[in-house]
Amino acid sequence: MRRTALVAGGAGFIGGCVTRALLDDGWQIVVVDNLSNGNAEMVPPLARFVDCNKGQHDTMAQIFREHAIEIVFDFAAHINISEGERTPAKYLENNLANTISLANAAACAGVKKYVFSSTAAVYGTPATALVSETHPVRPVSVYGKTKAMAEVALIEILGAAGCALGILRYFNVAGSFGGGAFGQYRRGQTGIMSRALDASRGHDPVFTIHGADWNTADGTGVRDYIHVGDLVSAHTALAERLAANQPPRIYNCGYGTGFSVREVLATFEQVSGRVIEVALGERRAGDTAAVVADSSRIRSELGWTPQRQDLELIVRDAMAWRTRLEADQTRLFA
Ligand SMILES: NC(=O)c1ccc[n+]([C@@H]2O[C@H](COP(=O)([O-])OP(=O)(O)OC[C@H]3O[C@@H](n4cnc5c(N)ncnc54)[C@H](O)[C@@H]3O)[C@@H](O)[C@H]2O)c1
Repeated sequence: MRRTALVAGGAGFIGGCVTRALLDDGWQIVVVDNLSNGNAEMVPPLARFVDCNKGQHDTMAQIFREHAIEIVFDFAAHINISEGERTPAKYLENNLANTISLANAAACAGVKKYVFSSTAAVYGTPATALVSETHPVRPVSVYGKTKAMAEVALIEILGAAGCALGILRYFNVAGSFGGGAFGQYRRGQTGIMSRALDASRGHDPVFTIHGADWNTADGTGVRDYIHVGDLVSAHTALAERLAANQPPRIYNCGYGTGFSVREVLATFEQVSGRVIEVALGERRAGDTAAVVADSSRIRSELGWTPQRQDLELIVRDAMAWRTRLEADQTRLFA
């Protein structure tokens, strides 16, 4: 019998990549997405798609009755740090309350494996250059706080149900799946990579650097950019290692190498051949100077060996997908 996974947020960027990888591996997939930031057209036809909020308990309970779900992957969240500062209730409602509701529905249905998408934002302003999983969790943004609280909630709810939990704390995710086969399909996303991509293609006339006075080598923020293809393999490796009644496993997903905003822009300019005009803006609330992953735990415990640790490759793959998407007039951006 084919194994079945439920992917909440599977109409989005990272969930869409993991969905494709699991389908390639022969899994049956149920995607649940309320399309608040996703696109139904991007769900592969081989997956069953349910347009629904993951926090709708009755619908989720029905899905768990209809399918023998072996594992839940929960990618569904609001992801815009600035928006979270302006509308904390919206972020708490979705990233915490709806996340609890889905975990509860899964626990009631007897699901035994669960993977939750968390973020480096739970570390806030790190005290060390490299951040390991043992670094104190002290988020500064509302977004980071909702994820940190969700982690605690899932540990309790799923632990009580004997459901194995894996928490992946992603650093900055970019690139595309399958060398340009699928990627981020919305313009106007607020991440640095997305904004640089928009600027490098002339969709945004100016790239605003939010804060050029951080305590970093060139004054701009430093982040650890992970290729989504390597992030996908972290999920599939983790899914195979989870076993019921184990303590929760928490892993950083990043490379351990940081790049500044200016270095990212230079790479986009080099790959696109287009000069990106830059404006200097204020620091954004909730931002921090440098966040770089110590990823030794996932490497040693899961045998995770990244294959795409190359900023230029990340940029090239993001561009390859974007070029394909923009050439396809039936899939215009929302
Ligand atoms: N992109 C990154 O760099 C990054 C970094 C760290 C963590 N993350 C986490 O990874 C996950 C996926 O991020 P992404 O970049 O793919 O974002 P995304 O917005 O592309 O995907 C999220 C999907 O979840 C859906 N969704 C949101 N709330 C929902 C709900 N209540 N019910 C059903 N569907 C819902 C959205 O419509 C969207 O399709 C998120 O949890 C995010 O916090 C992302």
